[in-house]
Amino acid sequence: MKKRILSGMRPTGKLHLGNYVGALENWVKLQDDYENFHLIADWHVLTTNLDTSQLAQNTMDMVIDWLAAGIDPEKSPIFIQSKIKEHAELFLIFSMLVTVPRLERNPTVKEQARDLGVEANMIFGHLGYPVLQAADILLYKAHLVPVGEDQLPHVELTREIARRFNKTYGDVFIVPTGKLTEFSRLPGLDGNKMSKSLGNTILLSDKPDMIAQKIMKAVTDPQKIRKNDPGRPEICNVFTYHKKFNQSEVPQIERDCKSGELGCVACKQNLAKKMAAYLEPFREKRKDYESHPELVRDIIDDGNKRARAVAEQTMTEVYEVMKMG
Ligand code: TRP
Repeated sequence: MKKRILSGMRPTGKLHLGNYVGALENWVKLQDDYENFHLIADWHVLTTNLDTSQLAQNTMDMVIDWLAAGIDPEKSPIFIQSKIKEHAELFLIFSMLVTVPRLERNPTVKEQARDLGVEANMIFGHLGYPVLQAADILLYKAHLVPVGEDQLPHVELTREIARRFNKTYGDVFIVPTGKLTEFSRLPGLDGNKMSKSLGNTILLSDKPDMIAQKIMKAVTDPQKIRKNDPGRPEICNVFTYHKKFNQSEVPQIERDCKSGELGCVACKQNLAKKMAAYLEPFREKRKDYESHPELVRDIIDDGNKRARAVAEQTMTEVYEVMKMG
């Protein structure tokens, strides 16, 4: 039997290249060797945004990007958290197995609180969302959780909760491992982390002219002012993108940038072309789904059924060892 993976994302709309290289690409690679469950974490969105008016559209946009990137829904169920009530049920039980100070030490939650300016005034659900995430993962007895760096503290908490439950009541849960991707933090066009809220993204669905327009504005080495100034590829975003999307030319670009032979404009034009070509198959695939949203809804309905069957079974085991119900 194949080992299982649980991967999840918040449905916040169309995905960018940071989401792709930090997570999605990895999911696609792993789907042949593992049984993958793909969670649409809609309850998680509420922890930082109470406005649900865009949730349905954002879910559709995200799932289309998943499919366009090569997630195969036959192999890998795609399902919605709020449609599987067992997540909430297990979250409740797990909330008894973790202390408030433990949750307050979570560096990712702390960083979000700082960014949102809510350190002294955090909602209960935000503080507790890593516990909900533990339920997401453990419910499916996943061995592996592919994540970006920022999610590792949540996987660590998940491991603690699994051990705690197993020790207290009996062995139900598998203690999962987090799996990082090599490129887990892709810089945005301005050099900060690529993030929708910073407005520095390139979307998987961007058309070639949009890609070119965005790349031309990307920040490079600030000391390379004139075309023939020698550049420092190691601090240049555009060079980082070449490493990912134009690997074969990297040695030459590195040499010519350092020597001052290659100017930023030509370097960017080249990258924009390579990136557009890289994303071409995605755009093709996404067209089919965009014109048939009912297909996407069927895929999710089917995924919900398959996820629910596993979740119900796990909860039966949970109550058995707890001698409840
Ligand atoms: N917290 C994750 C994020 O913000 C999303 C998520 C929810 C998740 N449940 C998960 C990721 C389970 C991995 C596994 O991106």
